[in-house]
Amino acid sequence: MKIVVIQGPNLNMLGVREQQIYGPMKLEQIHAQMKDVADQNKMEIEFFQSNLEGEIVDKVQECYGEADGIIINAAAYTHTSIAIRDAIAAVNLPTVEVHISNIHRREEFRKDNMIAPVCTSSVVGFGPFGYHLAMIGMLQIMNELQAAKAAQTQAAEANK
Ligand code: DQA
Repeated sequence: MKIVVIQGPNLNMLGVREQQIYGPMKLEQIHAQMKDVADQNKMEIEFFQSNLEGEIVDKVQECYGEADGIIINAAAYTHTSIAIRDAIAAVNLPTVEVHISNIHRREEFRKDNMIAPVCTSSVVGFGPFGYHLAMIGMLQIMNELQAAKAAQTQAAEANK
């Protein structure tokens, strides 16, 4: 099982940018915690951050046939990017969207979300802990998919 974590613009500035909103944790610290959870569950994990919309589209596309699930914080592109939304819809993988802040109780423009409708689920407003919750949620999704596959195989065997 492989999960790809995709981080959008300015998330490389975590720990520096608007600490009153995003907290003091750096992206590397968040990723180290996610890696621990992945290791404990024998899961492969890859991290990617870009400030460029097209690079994020490319990374989502690369996940097709390579990854079993995506955790994405598209950051500001969440509110504008039909291209990232279409890429997520195209690869059709289990996708968990994360936002560190509660985008629903901030500026009006952050209420527009192009990404959420094509994601499996969203984790919003838990601070950096949201990434941990996304990992737990993704593990649950993977377990359920594996169980469904095993049941299908068993049913096919029984019908032989
Ligand atoms: C964010 C929320 C976005 O509105 C903002 O542009 C970000 C971070 C969050 O994690 O809370 O860069 O995605």
